[in-house]
This record gives sequence, structure tokens and C-alpha cells, in this order.
Amino acid sequence: MRCSVVAVIFVFISVVCSVQSADARPTKRYDERTKMCRVISDGTLDWDSEPWGIGGIKFREVCKSCHSQNSNKGAPFVHAETYTSKGWNAFFAKRRAKCARDGSWNALKDDEVQLVNDYLFRNGNWTYNPNDADSCG
Ligand code: HEC
Repeated sequence: MRCSVVAVIFVFISVVCSVQSADARPTKRYDERTKMCRVISDGTLDWDSEPWGIGGIKFREVCKSCHSQNSNKGAPFVHAETYTSKGWNAFFAKRRAKCARDGSWNALKDDEVQLVNDYLFRNGNWTYNPNDADSCG
């Protein structure tokens, strides 16, 4: 009896620990264009910055329509891990890429672009620094 209580506690602790480490991802994103700090680990932005939220959905619907593996649109393969969190933030802040300037993003409203940015920032290649200006640090 006592042993199984210990086992339950152990399982509980290891589950809590693994959830915490999965959460060691960006929690805030500074949006250069709107000069706002977006809390992407809470409320609707939490949901929308995940693969199943608006950010992830719009990335697949719009961006991936050109940036898929065997694209015939002359676009390189792009996925969330193409850039770091910081790299994605710069990509969306500067918008130097050809597709950002030639109307390829027109299917997205401004707030949807921000949500795609949130999604890629949160799920980018892992080198997140919470003290960085990009993280509102
Ligand atoms: C209509 C097709 C199209 C859509 C939609 C599109 N892109 Fe692109 N994108 C391109 C093409 C073509 C290039 C390569 C342009 C070049 O040769 O410089 C490109 C370049 C890029 C690059 C590489 C930038 C660089 O200079 O190395 C990234 C990253 C990128 N796009 C991300 C995105 C994201 C994120 C979205 C969605 C918000 C998006 N693209 C939507 C066509 C598209």
C-alpha cells in the first residue's frame, strides 16, 4: 500500500517535471511593428501560437502553399525550425524577403501575420533567451 502511494507520487512528479520542460519555450514576444509585448503563453494567444491555433493553421494554409517540400513556386522549404525565435522576429519585423514585399502575404490580415509570427517565434529552432529584447526581457 505504502509502496503504491510512493509510486503514484513519483509518477506525478515526473509528469509535472516533463510538462515544465516542454514549457521551457518562449512565453513573451516583443512585436517591433506594434511596439507591444505579446504574452504568448496565456489566454487566446497561447492557443493561437500553437500548431492547432490560428498562427499554425495560417502558416500551413498560406506560407506552406509555397514553402512545402516539393514546391513548384520557386520557394525554398520552410518550417518553424528554419530560423531561431529571434531570427523569426527579425524576419517579420524587417520584411526584407521577396514574398513579404510582393503581395504573397496578402491572404493574411495584419493580426494573422502577427499570429503566424507568434507561432514561429514560439516553435522556432531552440535558442530562446528570456532576457532578450525579443522576449520583452
Ligand atoms: C506565393 C508564394 C509565397 C508565399 C505565400 C510565401 N512565400 Fe516566402 N518566399 C517565396 C519565394 C518565391 C521566396 C524566395 C524569394 C527569393 O528567391 O528571394 C520566399 C522566401 C522566403 C524565405 C527565405 C527568406 C530569405 O531571404 O532567405 C522565408 C523564410 C519565407 N519566404 C517565409 C515565408 C513565410 C513565413 C510566409 C507566410 C507568412 C511566406 N514565406 C509566404 C514565396 C512565398
